[in-house]
Amino acid sequence: MFKSVEEVQQRFREARYIATRRIATVVYLAERMGRPILIEGPAGVGKTEMAKVLAEVTGRRLIRLQCYEGLDEGKALYEWKYAKQLLYTQLLKERIGELIEDTHSLPEAVAKIAGQDDAFFSYRFLSPRPLLSAIQADDEVVLLVDEIDKAEPEFEAFLLEVLSDFQVSVPELGTITAKHIPLVVLTSNNARELSDGLKRRCLHLFIDFPAPRDELEILRLKVPEISERLAQAVVTAVQRIRVMELRKPPSVSESLDWARSLVILNAETLDPAVVESTLTMLVKYEKDMERVKGALDRVLADLN
Ligand SMILES: Nc1ncnc2c1ncn2[C@@H]1O[C@H](COP(=O)(O)OP(=O)(O)O)[C@@H](O)[C@H]1O
Ligand SMILES: [Mg+2]
Repeated sequence: MFKSVEEVQQRFREARYIATRRIATVVYLAERMGRPILIEGPAGVGKTEMAKVLAEVTGRRLIRLQCYEGLDEGKALYEWKYAKQLLYTQLLKERIGELIEDTHSLPEAVAKIAGQDDAFFSYRFLSPRPLLSAIQADDEVVLLVDEIDKAEPEFEAFLLEVLSDFQVSVPELGTITAKHIPLVVLTSNNARELSDGLKRRCLHLFIDFPAPRDELEILRLKVPEISERLAQAVVTAVQRIRVMELRKPPSVSESLDWARSLVILNAETLDPAVVESTLTMLVKYEKDMERVKGALDRVLADLN
């Protein structure tokens, strides 16, 4: 367990993640209170990475549920290994035949086979998916429910239920209760509004694009080869581009990619030619590109 907010910040930094005081406070409280964390914010600001680093620094195993449209309980919780069940019934055909040999009617035969249910609906044929894996785990885990906004609201309601009591009922097997309450992190890119219930259950954290000072730290940490001068120029240029009302403003992942490509190209300063030829690292839409190119003087003013 973390002893203080400062310790969270320090351990995250050792794991190469810059946690602002706000992020570190939420992490600290969530671990103390045993509450899930819901992180919202634009793509590429370090939401998924935060969960991974949380697992790393707490020595917990990471179990990840990646959400998508159409994700249902079966895919998230457990499925029966249908093919294996079928194969076993094929291989056991004779034994099953023997079993119903002396029955005299169909209902009697069905009843006799039903008596063998336990053999086919046992852990041997159960395929746990991430949610059940997290609940069943013998060790302590971080459960990352990534991009929950991509799943349907019905799934969200189901998830809320799981997060409330950390137990699931498998009709054929009974109720499975968590040995350790997982540390849960949910992320959302705000594709849609999440339910009040889910927000209430979680400690809420909004991660926005980083302040210049923090982004500089991230750059130094993740692209250590970069010169101090170039790193500062990159951060300032990116911050200026971010306020340009683009369709997709560059995120941390883009500024890292840009910085890495500048290092590979041995760029020492941000001259217009090198910026123009590497701009695709930073902006992904043609319209955005034209806009930035048109304002390059302003973006690069006083940088070199
Ligand atoms: N605060 C941070 N400290 C270190 N690296 C960061 C930070 N924020 C973002 N990154 C880096 O930015 C990239 C994108 O992060 P990611 O977690 O995938 O974003 P998201 O899940 O929010 O879309 C990763 O390479 C990550 O390491
Ligand atoms: Mg992510």
